[in-house]
Amino acid sequence: MTSAAAKQRIDQLTDQINHHNDLYYNKSKTEISDFEFDQLLEELTKLEAEFPALRLPDSPTQRVGGTITKEFASVVHQYPMLSLGNTYSPEELTDFDGRVAKGLEGEAYEYFCELKFDGVSISLIYENGLLTKAVTRGDGVRGDDVTTNIKTIRSLPLRIKAKDIPARFEVRGEVFLPKEVFKQLNKEREDIGEETYANARNTASGTVKMQDSAEVAKRKLDCFLYYLLGEDNEVETHSEAINKLERWGFNVSPTYKKCKSIQEVLDYIQTWEKKRHELPLETDGVVIKVNSLEQQELLGFTAKSPRWAIAYKYKAESISTRLNGITYQVGRTGAVTPVAELEPVFLAGTTVKRASLHNANEIARLDLHLGDYVFVEKGGEIIPKVTGVDLAKRNASVKKVIYIDHCPECNATLIRKEGEANHYCPNEKGCPPQIKGKVEHFIQRKAMDIDSLGEQTIRQLFELGLVKTPADLYYLTKDDLLRLDKVKEKSAQNMLDGITASKAQPFENVLFGIGIRYVGKTVAEKLAKHFKTMNNLRQATYEALLEAPEVGEKIAQSVVEYFKDADNLREVDRLVSAGLQFESNQQEPELVSSVLADKSFVISGVFQNYERDQLKDIILAHGGKVSSSVSGKLDYLLAGDNMGPAKREKAAKLGVKIISESEFEALLKG
Ligand code: IVH
Repeated sequence: MTSAAAKQRIDQLTDQINHHNDLYYNKSKTEISDFEFDQLLEELTKLEAEFPALRLPDSPTQRVGGTITKEFASVVHQYPMLSLGNTYSPEELTDFDGRVAKGLEGEAYEYFCELKFDGVSISLIYENGLLTKAVTRGDGVRGDDVTTNIKTIRSLPLRIKAKDIPARFEVRGEVFLPKEVFKQLNKEREDIGEETYANARNTASGTVKMQDSAEVAKRKLDCFLYYLLGEDNEVETHSEAINKLERWGFNVSPTYKKCKSIQEVLDYIQTWEKKRHELPLETDGVVIKVNSLEQQELLGFTAKSPRWAIAYKYKAESISTRLNGITYQVGRTGAVTPVAELEPVFLAGTTVKRASLHNANEIARLDLHLGDYVFVEKGGEIIPKVTGVDLAKRNASVKKVIYIDHCPECNATLIRKEGEANHYCPNEKGCPPQIKGKVEHFIQRKAMDIDSLGEQTIRQLFELGLVKTPADLYYLTKDDLLRLDKVKEKSAQNMLDGITASKAQPFENVLFGIGIRYVGKTVAEKLAKHFKTMNNLRQATYEALLEAPEVGEKIAQSVVEYFKDADNLREVDRLVSAGLQFESNQQEPELVSSVLADKSFVISGVFQNYERDQLKDIILAHGGKVSSSVSGKLDYLLAGDNMGPAKREKAAKLGVKIISESEFEALLKG
């Protein structure tokens, strides 16, 4: 393909993909299937790899991330990012209204009310319609440049097409993890034995500062915009600015309202006090802004916050109820979670009967006694949480909670590893919830995707002694399944068909499904790609594992331990005999050129613009070879930062050419 033809096609694909992205994320509509969409994106990715210079600054391929940032550059805000004063009662709000009225010396004014989104504030700079910078709040004066991470947010326009945009403007808003995404993320972490995150806000904040933008892309952040700044915006009120932002394609929460008086503001606050729980993100109050920009200017700022705006914070609803008892749940990984069994109470929209107490430390911290009256709140507005004991109501006869020392399910003696908060049941192969949990993990969509089986079926199969490990599923007969409650010929066949079909699931799904601790889907994908076959992975040493992308000491150790266990090896062998996929069918990248033909590379260290396996793909795609150790026959050592000195010395001694990332890029251009 000629460069001109490539340019034309790249432009066309970029337009098409942007159009479909906008439809999907901002208008909840689709015109093409996911498959067709992925194909467009894939074609664009390939063309960009072949013609890196033609990649457009608003290329939608940036949505999937891929760049690594080692250190975020510090950027001074053109307009400082201030905070807001807080109020907690109608009286305090009426005082604020009094100060506004006084400041405006009798002029009429209006308010604009928005919800206060509980996320991470971000400032976006657009130049000639292009998103050029995204900066965190930092200390208000200077923040971090997190542009590559923010560009992965699908609802955010990378380029504005509208005609009436100023050459430069700034938009501010709140980046957040939708409640559902947060819940799902925690479920996935629990599933692989990682500790869960405490709340969506901190998780969003951590995500914005992750080094690998591809990981950020997977987290599915979203963003609401609520503030337009700049010199040439041609708006006179905040509501006009918000309308402009909407028209320019920004994601603005539709929950705003213009209010003519402080009474209307108070009504708005009341309306949303309950209704806000139905929103897809967490909110912790209302922001009230004077609508006229001229009046805003007149009122001005104090050192910390504007005089023309204020936040009203909802009280975290708290209620006292009786602690009837404590139960203990055992998860797939053996982690034990204590749960408070409460006298049912109605709180923030739902009846609460139970609340997680996390671990023994938390019970000690709260000094819980059975029969205590405890205060319950909804942490992050969703998950009920015990926040303290109502000591005034404590009865003299209550007994201190003593943490169990034996597994409530299998009676094994619990263990608690040095430095870990959780107790574990070590009876991995004999403890019912651990066994059932492993099979449930195995059949889930991201693993073997056997949706003809469910939790209840797994429970019964286990109780009948038919399934003790995932591999047992592949040796079930129709007669076995007909022993299950209410299962007739047709559904038994359906289950068998589902089990058979799952044999076609790719190696990375199998690897995730067998449930090696800390090996989540991403790591399973990287391991499958790196080691290609189960046999290679099985024989990999701790050191060899550390060479794989995304694999640190904890994961490497866990993989080594897994394959040291004879039962695990037998289980894998049975899965092999059943005909599951144990070789990666991820294709080698197609050759895009042969500029690196017959050249061999060792890649070492950390790079500014690429992940190591991306570099590997690029080298292979241009006809080169990648090896792991430096020898006299090697052509190039591609050196990033923090490369081990031994490699560098060896390369220098053997006369191997050491090149940097930019020299490599030059090499590619021929
Ligand atoms: S306006 C000059 N509107 O709350 C102040 N802020 O406590 C401009 N926030 O840093 C901020 N929702 O991160 C504004 N609808 C909203 C908001 C909002 C959440 C955050 C924002 C700000 C913090 C102040």
